Amino acid sequence: MLYQAKQYIKFLLKSKNQHGVHSPFVYNLVTLCFYDSKKHAAYKNILNYKKALLQDQSKIQVTDLGAGSQVMKQEERTVSQMAKNAGTTNKRAKLLYRLSAYFKPENILELGTSLGIATHALSLGKPESTITTIEGCNNIAEFSKNNFKKHNLENIEVIYSDFNEAIENLKSNSYNLIFFDGNHQKEATLHYFETLLQTANNDSVFIFDDIYWSEGMTEAWEQIKKHPKVTVSINTFFWGFIFFRKEQVKEDFVIRC
Ligand SMILES: C[S@@+](CC[C@H](N)C(=O)[O-])C[C@H]1O[C@@H](n2cnc3c(N)ncnc32)[C@H](O)[C@@H]1O
Repeated sequence: MLYQAKQYIKFLLKSKNQHGVHSPFVYNLVTLCFYDSKKHAAYKNILNYKKALLQDQSKIQVTDLGAGSQVMKQEERTVSQMAKNAGTTNKRAKLLYRLSAYFKPENILELGTSLGIATHALSLGKPESTITTIEGCNNIAEFSKNNFKKHNLENIEVIYSDFNEAIENLKSNSYNLIFFDGNHQKEATLHYFETLLQTANNDSVFIFDDIYWSEGMTEAWEQIKKHPKVTVSINTFFWGFIFFRKEQVKEDFVIRC
């Protein structure tokens, strides 16, 4: 917590809004998507999806995947507790919706389904997209699969697997948007990034959750930004965005979001 608080102060001192952003690509993304303050009709669905989870007192036997994806512990949790503690917040779900509507990604990959709050928001942003989401706890994966069916979200495939195994089978695919939202450890994150780099095209965006979760995650983020294939990077503190657009000069942005 202390690490994150210190880093947040540094972020506030360094970060800016759209002013002084000279790249039209980034300027448009910030003004038309990050800062879009319209009340989109889909927000109601996003809030209702989360609300239903928060009210759900049913219990799930959860398998926690820890370091090296070993099973750390198993425990029973209510859906409501999980939605409160580990689920994407409403603010971020709305932003995911806007990102999906803005970039219109055909193929989306998510590492870390959990209760599907992010998956649902991404799907609403581009209902015609194909979404693959990976979850290492079978009971959670089953719960979300059924929940997506209940919400008539036909475009989502839930893969029950450890990330490592699943991405080996997916690395020859092409993804326009990848959301890395599980197993926040340096080496694992770098491995997922390097493996999935093969799936990126010129217009792909990779979004890394919790880049200030720990010193290790920040080190991973710093290393990812330096990769020769990465041109634009945007640090919004809670998420790190990277782009591969060859037409852009390599530039790092720190944006309040
Ligand atoms: C922070 S939650 C994802 C939150 C979700 N995206 C949302 O919108 O609410 C991370 C999820 O990743 C799963 N996970 C963590 N490490 C994993 C691994 N190595 N392989 C597969 N799943 C993993 C956890 O079981 C957990 O459900």
